[in-house]
Amino acid sequence: MAKYDNSFTDELRQRLSLVDVISRRIPLIKKGQNYWGCCPFHNEKTPSFSVSEEKGFYHCFGCGEHGDIISFVMKSENMDFKNAIKELADMAGIKMPDIKQKTPEQKQAEENYIQLTENATKIYQDLLYTDVGKVALDYIKKRGFSDEMIKKYRIGYAPKNNIISSKFSNIKHDKLTATGLVRVGNYGLYDFFRDKLMFPIFNAHDQIVAFSGRSLDGSEPKYINTSDTELFHKRQTIFGFNFARDAIHRQNRSIVVEGQIDAIQMQNHGFPETVAPLGTALTEDHIAILCKSNRNITFCFDGDNAGQKAAVRACTLVLPFLRDNSDVRFAFVSGGKDPDEILKNQGKSAMRKIIDNSVSWIDFLWDSVNKNYLTNTPNGRTQAEKFLKDCLSKITDKIFQNEIEQEYNSRKFNQWHKWKKQKYTTDIELPDIDNMTVNMIKSIVQTYPQLSEKYIDFLSSLNISFDDDVSTTDLSLENAEKYVVSLKLQRYIQKLNLEKQQLLNNPDATSESLQEINKKIIDAQEKLDLLLDMNNK
Ligand code: UTP
Ligand code: MN
Repeated sequence: MAKYDNSFTDELRQRLSLVDVISRRIPLIKKGQNYWGCCPFHNEKTPSFSVSEEKGFYHCFGCGEHGDIISFVMKSENMDFKNAIKELADMAGIKMPDIKQKTPEQKQAEENYIQLTENATKIYQDLLYTDVGKVALDYIKKRGFSDEMIKKYRIGYAPKNNIISSKFSNIKHDKLTATGLVRVGNYGLYDFFRDKLMFPIFNAHDQIVAFSGRSLDGSEPKYINTSDTELFHKRQTIFGFNFARDAIHRQNRSIVVEGQIDAIQMQNHGFPETVAPLGTALTEDHIAILCKSNRNITFCFDGDNAGQKAAVRACTLVLPFLRDNSDVRFAFVSGGKDPDEILKNQGKSAMRKIIDNSVSWIDFLWDSVNKNYLTNTPNGRTQAEKFLKDCLSKITDKIFQNEIEQEYNSRKFNQWHKWKKQKYTTDIELPDIDNMTVNMIKSIVQTYPQLSEKYIDFLSSLNISFDDDVSTTDLSLENAEKYVVSLKLQRYIQKLNLEKQQLLNNPDATSESLQEINKKIIDAQEKLDLLLDMNNK
């Protein structure tokens, strides 16, 4: 039977939550570290079936059934391995890989490839310390690389002439071109990398599978990388991962920076857990590789627009990998600088501060939604909500997804809608009442102190001074009260009209709130009419 690459089944285990998958069949309750439920494989009334999300295993203390996410699907759905994998791949929303057994010829071709890249690296390394490589050596030293660092990362120099094509001229052309180091032109073979500072790119088995060459004379592009080959897939390779792997385990997190020199400098100045994608675009595969160690990633991007955009992209890519114990964070380097420059100019502690000041993905996503959409308009809020909803749908653990949704709902309520309420109720100031009315009110208060007590709130809102003595009024108590109440109603209608005006000027206003205010105005007006009618009698 054809075997699936371990990396694919590993990926399934990482992408999917065991608890989530088992919960589809039986209810689970969290107790301590593990989840518990009634065993689906034997009859029982009290739960003895335990699930460890962290370890990725389930175990039944009743019947001894034991396994992982794949065996659970096989057993519970009565499926063979292949179909269980298919089912899980569907759940995770990933494609099944093509399964190919390596032929002896392929294995041989791979060995040749690695031998060639290894030999080429040695040539480049040696050249860096000769006269032809002096410019490159001076350059890399100026960038703060010590001899030990140059040795560790096996940095070298590809000279201006076609060194690889000529040194390996006795080797079959297709073997050479397979490595991407050499290409076929009109006049025969030529080297892909010429006059470049050479950074070897290692695979997870510490083999050199490709190179990244930096231009030394300011010519563009700044970096060229080996094009994809049988053994090198740019989208699936992370620069520096081979050096960082142990540290990522030890520190229980990885840091992702944008450039490879940044990654090297970080690794050598207090952040050994740092890696960089190759080229600028981060891919889902990059994240899958990092998540094999743990799901704690701190992305450290430039503070500029491009960096923000890259961070949003990274955030959406990382969502399917999130679990309730992941810690994914975002840090930004401001001032158009990158980590390499921070370390060089401001030192480790400045960089440490930047990393320590990172924000969780939950806050980052919320902030960027509020930055990117006009959340003070219904249109903007709709767009923002759609974006958030789309993001959250990528979280595979449904319970976790639900929890985050609630968190955002409460933020929406507190930050979007509260803000709205505040805006409506502030700034409404009624014009002062005229002098004649002021005097009338004063006389009423003077004559009928009981009214001033009854309508204290309203009377004090009028902002008039009742200190000085005025003449008493001829109005009866009843009419005096009606006068006060009608004034109160008039002021209220005036205020409602101002509110309505504000509402009409507010792009954010809903038709419901407008209808509501119109109704209030009509009600108050009716009351007022009634009161004045009675007055006229
Ligand atoms: P940057 O333009 O930020 O370069 O690209 P950098 O890392 O600061 O480079 P130095 O410090 O000037 O040497 C970030 C990363 O994007 C990729 C490289 O991996 C680079 O590290 N890149 C950039 C390319 O692949 N090609 C390019 O032409 C430029
Ligand atoms: Mn740089």
